[in-house]
Parts: sequence; structure tokens; C-alpha cells
Amino acid sequence: MTSYALVGIGQLVTNDPTHEDGDGSPLGLIDRAAVVVEGDRIVWAGAESAVPDTDARQDLDGAAVIPSFVDSHSHLVFAGDRSAEFAARMTGEPYDGGGIAVSMAATRAADDDQLRRLVAARVAEMRAQGTGVVEIKSGYGLDVANEARALRIAGEFTEETTFLGAHVVPPEFRGSDSARADYVDLVCGEMLAACAPHARWIDVFCEPHSAYAFTAEESERVLRAGLAAGLQARVHGNQLGHGPGVQLAVQVGAASVDHCTYLSDADVETLAGSSTVATLLPGVEFSTRSPYPDARRLLDAGVQVALASDCNPGTCYSSSIPFAIAVAVRDMGMTPAEALHAATRGAAKSLRRHDIGVIREGARADLTVLDAPSYLHLPYRPGVPIAHSWLREPVTG
Ligand code: NIG
Ligand code: FE
Repeated sequence: MTSYALVGIGQLVTNDPTHEDGDGSPLGLIDRAAVVVEGDRIVWAGAESAVPDTDARQDLDGAAVIPSFVDSHSHLVFAGDRSAEFAARMTGEPYDGGGIAVSMAATRAADDDQLRRLVAARVAEMRAQGTGVVEIKSGYGLDVANEARALRIAGEFTEETTFLGAHVVPPEFRGSDSARADYVDLVCGEMLAACAPHARWIDVFCEPHSAYAFTAEESERVLRAGLAAGLQARVHGNQLGHGPGVQLAVQVGAASVDHCTYLSDADVETLAGSSTVATLLPGVEFSTRSPYPDARRLLDAGVQVALASDCNPGTCYSSSIPFAIAVAVRDMGMTPAEALHAATRGAAKSLRRHDIGVIREGARADLTVLDAPSYLHLPYRPGVPIAHSWLREPVTG
């Protein structure tokens, strides 16, 4: 197998604090570094002075290299346009989840090839900005056939597929309490059976502050049904107000609870004593004009934090992790190092993955090159496209 060396790396972020050439910090920084790749794996990383012989090499001329971003929360399988909803929010309209039905109607109306092309374009947009692995949720089909279809299409782009039939109660089940209960039965029964073969995760929008989303009891039923079907749990919680999402996520052993915009002291304490990752989604607060989550409070309490895009048509149509990092540093109390760690290693942990979000022997060769000498430029140069996924282009034999 051909081996490639990337040399001339001005600063390498390994996320391996134990690396002997590194600075011992959580980012495991190595100056004047090199990385060797074979196939889809990293086989060596360290000081450039010790780089082994390889078949080919590429000189990065002092650029910084980081592990590719792990986008652990996205909703890419949708059709239609909700830009008018965004414009209305900017003049004061609150977000309540009602617009999800607009995306649902457009998504149901799209054919498979249209949806596939839309997802492909969004994934390509992410890759171009330095994202490697992306998690993709269903949730705009909201019937058996369309949820299963969304997951089949998502599965063409990632192994990290998430069944979100419990995104909201669709309009045809909103007439009464019993109709609503019928929808929860459908999600836990026929829909789960059709979707589980195409999904790794189950998620629920646990949000009593939205009339369309799910209560703690409904959410627990959905999550436990998913777990019984062999899926692993993640939760949308505490997005629109204080609520039960965090406590429920920890109780069921969810890998992640996402949003965490409104947290009580008890929520922070519960997260700190658990293995559930708190995934923060700054693009959502930006695009809904909401208060930002307090990342500093979580980090100081010892909670494992991740950052992700939540790319979706309603609350955040941005696929940019550098943007999320910039906002987290500017407005959420994270240092640049903490924000980058959260968007790589933290997000990998939220997907229970050890082979991504890190640059070390055996990890996936998901590398992102920065047009900059240091990772500090990610928040320092907001809006400037300096992060690029590395594509193998050896320049010398
Ligand atoms: O993560 N909160 C629920 N789901 C998405 C928004 C979906 C939408 O409005 O289309 C979110 O914010
Ligand atoms: Fe979401």
C-alpha cells in the first residue's frame, strides 16, 4: 500500500495529550510536525525530524493541521426553503418548532434522486469546510415510508444515521390527545421497525415548551423502544426553556444531550456525574436570536462538551464548524483550544467513536489543513474559509 507523508506542518493538533513530541495539553500540539497515511489510516504522527521514509510526500509549507471536525448533529435530509421564517425571526418572531411541518411537506413531495442530490451537496459543503464524519438525522418524513427513505439516503453518506421520527407530531396526528398518542405508538412500533435497520441512533425532540414536540413521558417511551431495538440514544433537550431533557438523557444512558441552552444547577451536576456529552449548537442561538448556552459553566463543572452545527432548515442553516467555534469563543466562554477540542474529540465522544477526532497511529486519516500557521486562526478569522479537508495529492515521488 502506498504511504504518504505530510511534512512541513507548522503546528499539528493531535488531541493526544500523551504524545511524547507534544506539549502535554489536551490538544497535544506538536510544532514542525509530520503525519504519515496509508490507505484510510494514519500510521505515524510526530516531530518532522523523525518522519519515516514513505513512497510519496507533500509539503504543507508551515500550515497548521488539525483532526477533521466531527459534526455530530445535523438534519441534512430535507427539501424546500424556510428562509422567510428566518427573516421573520430576525424581526421578533419566536421559534417554536412549527416550521418543521413545512419542511416535512416539501420533503415528502421530493423524489429519491432530488433528496439524494440535496444531501450530497450539503455533505460536500461540509467536507469543503474541514468536516470529516457527519451524523445525519431523519425527522422530516414523519411517516413510515418517508422516515425509512430518509435514513436509507443518509446511510449512503455516513454510518452515523439517527432515527428522529419523534421530531414533532405531524399535522395529521394533531387533532386530539388520542391522535397524538397514536403517533407515539406508530414511532415506537411500525416506524421504528422500518427504520432501525438503517439507523445507529435514536433521537427525540424532548421539549415541553413546543406544542409540537414531546413530553418527558413520551420521549422516554420512544428512547426505550429504540434501545430495545438495538439503537443507541441521543436527545434534543433544554433548547427552548428549562425542561426534562437532560435528566432523561442521563437516565437512559444517552451518548449525548444536544442544545443544553437552559440548564439548572441540578442539570449541570447530573451531566458532570455522567458519561453523557453536552453537545452545544451555537449556530442555533445565532439563527434564532436566543441566549447562548453557558459553556464555561459546563466545562468548569467537569462536563464533557461537544460543538456541532445542527445544520437544518429551521433553526440553523449553516454547515460551518469554524463558525460554531468562533461563536463559542466569542460568546460562550470557551477558549479557542476548548472550542476546537469540543468540535473534534468532544464530538467524536458524543458518537462513541475513538477512531476520529484524533491524529494518532490507527486513527482514520481525516485531516484538515488550515490556511494559517495556528488553530487560533479559526476563531480569529471568523467567516474566512481557512479550513479544508485534506485530499491526498502527493507532489513528490
Ligand atoms: O435541532 N429542535 C428540533 N430540531 C431542529 C430544528 C428543526 C427545524 O426547525 O426544522 C433543531 O433545532
Ligand atoms: Fe437538531
